Amino acid sequence: MEETSFIDGLLEFLKQSPTPFHAVDNIHEILKAAGFVHLYEGDVWDISPGGSYYVIRNDSSLIAFTVGAHPMTETGLRIVGAHTDSPCLKVKPQPEITKNNYLQLGVEVYGGALLSPWFDRDLSMAGRISYLATDETIKHALIDFGNPIAVIPSLAIHLDREVNQNRSINAQTQLAPVIMNLVEDQAVDFREMLADHTRSQYSESDIVEVLDYELSLYDTQPPALVGINKEFVSGSRLDNLVSCYVGLMSFIEAGEDVSCMLVCNDHEEVGSASHAGAQGTFLKSVLERLSGSSEAFGRAMDRSIMISADNAHGIHPNFIDKYDDKHGPILNQGPVIKVNANQRYATNSETAAIFRHLCIRADVPVQTFVMRNDMQCGSTIGPITSTEIGVKTIDVGVPQFAMHSIRELAGRYDSFNLYKVLREFYCC
Ligand code: CO
Repeated sequence: MEETSFIDGLLEFLKQSPTPFHAVDNIHEILKAAGFVHLYEGDVWDISPGGSYYVIRNDSSLIAFTVGAHPMTETGLRIVGAHTDSPCLKVKPQPEITKNNYLQLGVEVYGGALLSPWFDRDLSMAGRISYLATDETIKHALIDFGNPIAVIPSLAIHLDREVNQNRSINAQTQLAPVIMNLVEDQAVDFREMLADHTRSQYSESDIVEVLDYELSLYDTQPPALVGINKEFVSGSRLDNLVSCYVGLMSFIEAGEDVSCMLVCNDHEEVGSASHAGAQGTFLKSVLERLSGSSEAFGRAMDRSIMISADNAHGIHPNFIDKYDDKHGPILNQGPVIKVNANQRYATNSETAAIFRHLCIRADVPVQTFVMRNDMQCGSTIGPITSTEIGVKTIDVGVPQFAMHSIRELAGRYDSFNLYKVLREFYCC
């Protein structure tokens, strides 16, 4: 794939994936179009060499795999992992707040969100609803309001003269977005509002009543290429939808000899311990079913490699003292190997060497990130997955600024370069 169509595809994927549910739905559509077979965990699987498949759990995590011509016990699997979730504001179950003739929504902070950039944005809302249908069954649907429907206004500087010196944000009292002007004594039922929206969006809707939902707010400003030479990608959820997209595009071009796998997990931003998260049973269960016996599973894992792809911190020119001066990656100078002696990243010298060799073969520059000793290091699904299934793992990612902001910035060429490296990984 050429760089320009790759980048166009990335921007479109980011725009169409406001939540993990939508990201997985889009990955599923791309895999389906590429001829992959949708398997369901509750069914008996009929898997054959040369086949390509995917499984979805909770509508928000997805595992896709190809079965190579050679047995997995002899070649192992080539696995790439990424996460589908990003820090955001989620709508509470009883969200209606009415104050001074305004309707506001109660929201809960999901993950380690950088809160100040959420103010003064034209926000919309998307996610999954579960509803009672006319045939009295419970059904689920993805919804996306699309239009800007909410805003979290800042307090004017005239009412807080110290704001530029010391701002703190109380997430309970200061974050509720305004969504509507109310007339005197008007009562609004949020679930009814969702049902009305769904009926108007889908004319054939069989919805009787919304029973529950998982909805998050998102910025309606579409992702864009910025910079004098359009060398940066600016947008929401770059961490970690960039890695999902890069993984998917390279996975689709996987070779036929060796079995390959793409793992996209929800709930990384909140620690991965969940039904659909990397610390759950999803991946292990799929691998056990693929292997057939615990001996085959052990043999396959011993020969497998996983590349855990999750964005890295690029060295910010205004804050260089926050980085180790020998290990601060630069945007557009190549994907980053993430190293942490205390195993917050799963990289070891053996897996790092494999990745460096892949970069040489793909003719791509590579950088290294190590957190300063006087600061705490983040983590990824890499160490968790490696712990759970015993696969040798390396943590890598494209460098970016403003991680966990509602608007992040990455280098346009790093995504394409990581794609070239992962394609090399999957193809040989
Ligand atoms: Co991440």
